[in-house]
Amino acid sequence: MSAASLPLAGQHVVLGVSGGIAAYKAVELLRRLMDLGAEVTPVLTASALEFVGAPTFRALSGRDPLTDLFRADEPIPHTRLGQGADLILVAPATANLLAKFAAGIADDALTTTLVATSAPVVLAAAMHTEMWLHPAVTANVATIRSRGFRVIDPERGRLAGGDIGYGRLAEPEVVIEAVLEELGTTRKPLLGRYVLVTAGGTREAIDPVRYIGNRSSGKQGIAVAQEAARLGATGALVTTVATPAIQGFEVVAVESALEMRDAVMGRLEQVDALVMCAAVADFRPAEVADQKIKRDSGIPEVKLVANPDILSEATGALRRSRPEAVVVGFAAETVDALRHGEEKLARKGVDIMVVNDVTEVGAGFGSDTNSVWLIARDGARSRIELAAKREVAAALLEKAFALEGEPRGQTRAN
Ligand SMILES: Cc1cc2nc3c(=O)[nH]c(=O)nc-3n(C[C@H](O)[C@H](O)[C@H](O)COP(=O)(O)O)c2cc1C
Repeated sequence: MSAASLPLAGQHVVLGVSGGIAAYKAVELLRRLMDLGAEVTPVLTASALEFVGAPTFRALSGRDPLTDLFRADEPIPHTRLGQGADLILVAPATANLLAKFAAGIADDALTTTLVATSAPVVLAAAMHTEMWLHPAVTANVATIRSRGFRVIDPERGRLAGGDIGYGRLAEPEVVIEAVLEELGTTRKPLLGRYVLVTAGGTREAIDPVRYIGNRSSGKQGIAVAQEAARLGATGALVTTVATPAIQGFEVVAVESALEMRDAVMGRLEQVDALVMCAAVADFRPAEVADQKIKRDSGIPEVKLVANPDILSEATGALRRSRPEAVVVGFAAETVDALRHGEEKLARKGVDIMVVNDVTEVGAGFGSDTNSVWLIARDGARSRIELAAKREVAAALLEKAFALEGEPRGQTRAN
């Protein structure tokens, strides 16, 4: 097999090693990743260095392992590594490392790189049985998985100290298979496509300090942009909430519906998919006071006027200029969600309506998970049951781009 045709050719994998007895097994994983054609940069924690030596990783990878944030050859090593990685594999992942990753702690080279990436992360846990079964570890693993990252359970077998039980690092074949699977899903099917996403609730100013807002956290929209980027798309995320940088995406900060409309309408030219997750206020104050309204000037009357319907406006414009572009709308409902979603799909003329009942536990505003119905323009419905918002994003992008080539106006016979 030529180097270019190896399964991981051109892929950059960061191999994180934390301080467990299984750290020596990371050497074998490094070798296998390289044999499959990956470029690998090892990142070792201080505890890992108690078990294994950096020179082994340097010699095998041909790269200087990162072991210390502040004594690296370059100024900001973690962001370069995090942004440039196609995948981060942590093996072994200690109880400590899992806890830090679940909490977003970034206090050494490995944990900081993990927080500075939007690449997929695979963590192969290894620890004593008591540690693996501790409720704190169980909760941390659940948190990590709910965010769309993959944790490989340890296997049963002989552990350090002669004990037998769950805790052994999974066999190299299992770990490598997980890496291949993750990168398989990240092979870039959206390369060359432009995805425009909106996120967050708009804020409609009453005066310089007060606004009318809503409960949308923006998490689902951000997840769509991150997932689209992972699949190779470029695009823009028009957002009312602060967002970390997303590779290949322009992040456009807006506040009000009017600002959001301008940002969206000005970027339709190259759109292949428009995903309108933002919760846009239907109304805004007719006038914005230029000074803070004082309590002693009496109870104000705030007259409202209608905001533009950005979804309908953008859909109409796209149908004229780029008829092949796909439009995805969102409907957050509190009652009779499916019926309202179907009505909204027809009224707005979009291709897919993502409907969620925001009163369901674990769905909707602020949560890291969502339960939704996807309704396609041909009437086909599919349900996604309580999944990470990243998984919902993946499903809706897959559905959107599958509809791309199909003629509109067909009705499914079912
Ligand atoms: C001999 C020895 C073996 C250890 N093995 C493990 C292990 O397999 N899994 C684990 O979670 N912690 C293990 N620990 C504890 C970790 O080294 C310790 O929690 C450390 O703080 C982990 O740091 P790190 O996550 O930054 O690498 C071991 C400690 C010692 C002394």
